[in-house]
Formats: sequence, structure tokens, C-alpha cells
Amino acid sequence: MTKKLYIETVGCQMNMLDSELVVANLRKDGYELTRDANQADTILFNTCSVRQHAEDKIYSALGRLKNAKHRNPEKVIGVLGCMAQKDQRLIFERAPYVDLVVGPGQLHQVPTLIREIEAGAEPRMEVSLGRKDGSRSQIERSHESYDPLRDPEMRPTPYQAYVRIVIGCDKFCTYCIVPSVRGPEQSRPPEQIVSEARQLASEGCKEITLLGQTVNSYQHRNGKKVTRFSDLLHLLHEIDGLERIKFVTNYPKDMTNDLLAAVRDLPKVSKYLHVPVQSGSDRMLERMKRGYTIAEYREMHSRICEWIPTAAVTSDFIVGFCGETDDDFQQTMDLVSELRFKNSFIFKYSERPGTKGAQMFADDVPEEVKRRRNNQLLDLQNAISEEDNQIFLGQTVEVLVEGPSKASSKKGVQGDVLQLTGRTSCDRIVVFTGNRRQTGEILPIGIYDANAHTLFGEVMTTHAGPELYALEH
Ligand code: 5AD
Ligand code: SF4
Repeated sequence: MTKKLYIETVGCQMNMLDSELVVANLRKDGYELTRDANQADTILFNTCSVRQHAEDKIYSALGRLKNAKHRNPEKVIGVLGCMAQKDQRLIFERAPYVDLVVGPGQLHQVPTLIREIEAGAEPRMEVSLGRKDGSRSQIERSHESYDPLRDPEMRPTPYQAYVRIVIGCDKFCTYCIVPSVRGPEQSRPPEQIVSEARQLASEGCKEITLLGQTVNSYQHRNGKKVTRFSDLLHLLHEIDGLERIKFVTNYPKDMTNDLLAAVRDLPKVSKYLHVPVQSGSDRMLERMKRGYTIAEYREMHSRICEWIPTAAVTSDFIVGFCGETDDDFQQTMDLVSELRFKNSFIFKYSERPGTKGAQMFADDVPEEVKRRRNNQLLDLQNAISEEDNQIFLGQTVEVLVEGPSKASSKKGVQGDVLQLTGRTSCDRIVVFTGNRRQTGEILPIGIYDANAHTLFGEVMTTHAGPELYALEH
């Protein structure tokens, strides 16, 4: 008998991938997906702890389920992922009708745990006991059996997929909860990654995005044999059918020259580098324990520009970190003006209990000031993105078509010809009119308009010569 599963995912790409793998596993137990939580036999939340806001959202969603569980006590309600690892029993205290709390390192157990609960077991919690819980080989084995099962329906399109290459993080930036909820940094064996990518390609996947909290820290040792991230890119580049290889998120200090050479030399590898700087002030970087100075970041940035002149570099910023003055913030503004990132993700500092930052420093920048700095930095970045996007007017770019644009989906457009959306190799969003069946194709699109976030274009019917792609490649 088929059972219905409703799953809601918040947070980063790693969480999206985790949800895909959980769903693939549950399908083996006869589950199918539903978009309606009321219809579901099992409701799962895959959660994020990186900021307070993400947690608040999940606790209020859980609050809304109280009556549903009351009406139908057979419904299984589970909380998975980073918040499960961080809050553990607190989740049962705040929402006593939750049946299941499972950390990111135990997700492969979800099907068994659900079966046990359906058979009448008490609420279950499976989390890591400490950061070093589980031996290296145990964790590797659990991922070996776990990562290769995929579920194209859970992905934005079947032509794009995430592939995990590094789990956990060892960097311990003082604001960040990730090292304590996702455990120590571990690189997956290259053979596993290559065979997973090969499998995806054979199923028609054209683009893979390699994932790691610090993806470019990838390094795998097997006896004397060391595989660096650049070596892995070379191996993946050989796979027939794969057309694009992206990777996020990079750690500035691990942006080595062999990696830049691989990005430059391998045509399938996107010249798109997300390398968060977090702040433009050395004083803040020191407090954040990011492990580099602005001078070092600047040196890395100019190396990228020198080796790969067409690279699109993007960043993350935290505004209002403990003790951030107007002067510190001005240095961040100045750095953005100087380096002109393709785009930036900007976050207001959110204190995370248990981190070094929360222990060592007061969260002393008022919310009002955080908001103002956030808006100011966003305005500056948007103006830069819009200005820099004008260079694409009159140019042709290669776009992997992802499907109907947000506007077409919202309006529920039915016909075959409609507004589509896709991305360039450098992760620029392009909107154009096309045919639904072009989804999954890589098309030449001539650009006639651009704002900060989107390029607007039309399909070029005569095939563009390679020189027209020069801007993106
Ligand atoms: N508060 C605000 N932003 C944070 N990030 C990580 N931890 C916090 C926090 N405590 C941001 C960083 C990181 C991105 C994924 O989230 O900018 O790069
Ligand atoms: Fe968090 Fe820093 Fe690790 Fe990124 S590198 S996950 S910000 S600790």
C-alpha cells in the first residue's frame, strides 16, 4: 500500500540533498510525495540552525501541526537535520507530539525509525553524541550505502543534481554552528564520487554541483595516494554526458593555484566561484576567526582575476557581528565597491548558543543597526550587480533551461510556449520565451535587457560562434 510523505526543507543545498536522499530511501518503503500536509501519513521537516530565524520558522510550523496530530494520532511527525542535532530533547519538550528527532549524521536510519514508530514504538531520537561520535570508517560506510540513492522528483530539474564531496567542517568560525551540528570535516573517496556522478550522467543529468561547507578543502588520502580537489575535478571532467560542473562553498585560504588552473583549463568546470569573505574589517575577521586578513583575501581575489579573467566571484557577508562599529562596516562597504562581486548573500548576525562567538563576545549591535547595515550593503551590491550585468546586452550566453519561469508558474500558464528560466555556466539567471520541451537543453540566448538579478533574452536560431560565448567562458 502506498503511503504519503510531506517533506519541508529549509537551509542550504546540503539540506536539499539530504532531503532528496531521505525521500529516495522512503520510496523503497512504498512512500510517495504529497504537497498537502493534511493528506500525509508522515510529515518531515529537514531543518537548519545557522540563524535563529530558520529555527523559529520550524517551531511555528510544528506548532500548527498540534491539532492535526490530535485529529489523527497515527500521523508520524519527524524533525531532521541540524536543528534536530542542536536542540535534541528540547524539540520533544516544545512539541510533545513529535515522534522522531534525527540528526544529519543519522538520516540513513529514517526508514527504520518510521517503521518502528508505525509499529507502536515510543518517540525516537537518533543524534550524534559528540562531534567525534562514530569512527571515520563508520561514517564513511553509512554514506556509502546512503548517498548513491537519488530522487529526480526532489530536484529542481532532473538535469541538475548535487553531489556531496565533503561532509562537516573543521574551521570553527566563531559565529558558526555548523562544525558542532555537522561534525568533523571528511572527504568522500574519489571513486564513490565519480561513480555517483557517472550514474547521474547516465540518467540524463547534465550539471552537477559538488557540495561541501568548505568544498575546496577536499582532500582524500588512501595510503600514499592523495587526491586533491583539482585532481577530483579532472576525474569528473572525463565523464561523458556531464556538461557542467559547479561547486560550493569555497574557503578563501584553500583557493590554491592547482585549483585555479583546473577551473581555467577544464571547459566543463564553471568559472563561478563562491568564496565568502564575511567582512571587510580585519578586526572582525580576527574575532570571527576566519583565518585570513583582508590583504590575504585581496591577494586571492587578484589571483582569481589573473588566472581566470571571466570568473564570476560571489560572497557572503555577516553584518552586525559582535562589536562591529560604523568604521568596520564602512570597510565592508569599501571592499564590496573595490572587488565588485557578481552578487553577495548578506546576513544579520544571529547569535548561536554553544558557539565560541556566543561565549566570548556580547551580541551588542542593536537589531535596528543590523537592519540598516544589511539594507545599505544590499543596495550597494545590487547597484554593482545591475551595472556589471549591462555588459551582457547584445551578447549571447549559453543557458541550461530549468523550466517555466517563476512568473509563468505563478500564473499557471498552460500552453507550450511560455516564459522559461535557466542559468548560465556562471550561475546567472536568464529569462526568455521558449517551448516547454526545451527544458533540459543548453541553448544560446541573446540578451537584450538586464537588472541586478536577471538577464532577459531570446533564443538565437542561428547557432552562435564560440567567440560570442567569450564573456562567460
Ligand atoms: N549569523 C548570521 N549569519 C551566519 N552565517 C553563518 N553563521 C551565521 C550566524 N550565526 C552565514 C555566513 C555563511 C552563510 C552560509 O551563513 O555568511 O557563509
Ligand atoms: Fe561555518 Fe566557517 Fe565552517 Fe563555513 S567555514 S561552515 S562559516 S565554520
